[in-house]
Amino acid sequence: MSHKRVAILISGGGSNMVSLVDSMVGDHPARACLILSNDAEAGGLKRAAERGIPTAAVDHRPFKGDRAAFEAELLRPLEQAQPDIVCLAGFMRVLTGGFVSRFQGRMLNIHPSLLPKYKGLNTHARAIEAGDATHGCSVHEVTAALDDGPILGQAQLKIEAGDTADTLAARVLVWEHKLYPAVLRRFANGDKTPVLLP
Ligand code: GAR
Repeated sequence: MSHKRVAILISGGGSNMVSLVDSMVGDHPARACLILSNDAEAGGLKRAAERGIPTAAVDHRPFKGDRAAFEAELLRPLEQAQPDIVCLAGFMRVLTGGFVSRFQGRMLNIHPSLLPKYKGLNTHARAIEAGDATHGCSVHEVTAALDDGPILGQAQLKIEAGDTADTLAARVLVWEHKLYPAVLRRFANGDKTPVLLP
């Protein structure tokens, strides 16, 4: 059996990337083919290299104001790796519709809120501020609109009295590490039925 090839885009520590990579073993239908970052210093690149996965970085900063030029550079290593599936995992750059359309229907993202609530940044603080009883994370198909696109899975948890953005973020992250691998496995098997956790 030939495995589906998965490229993962990161910007930081890459804990979600690690959870995805470590899940792609045994009878899993996919394997990681590239870890790509917009920051050569991203901690996740080292963690990927330690796992023997090819890495690449394209610094977005020299392209300030020219998203298309940045994306053209980002596309080089990505197309070379010939991924079947692209996973955004803490990738903190907004991608244009042109870039996204190249991977239409095969690009996933994890977002730390119960979408469609709290697209964008500071999701944990916004959920607390709103007095929400629950919060969580979502994996969705990436479309041209930010943090939009069909939902492929969600994990929900209770907001506790005394939660701060940091304590809540830490609890949500634990669920991200369960949700994203579960969705990827299902998606790589051609099944887009949403995964609902716990
Ligand atoms: C995760 O919480 C992820 O959901 C979030 O960034 C963190 C990355 O952590 N993503 C976004 O906010 C996307 N807009 P990681 O680098 O340890 O996976």
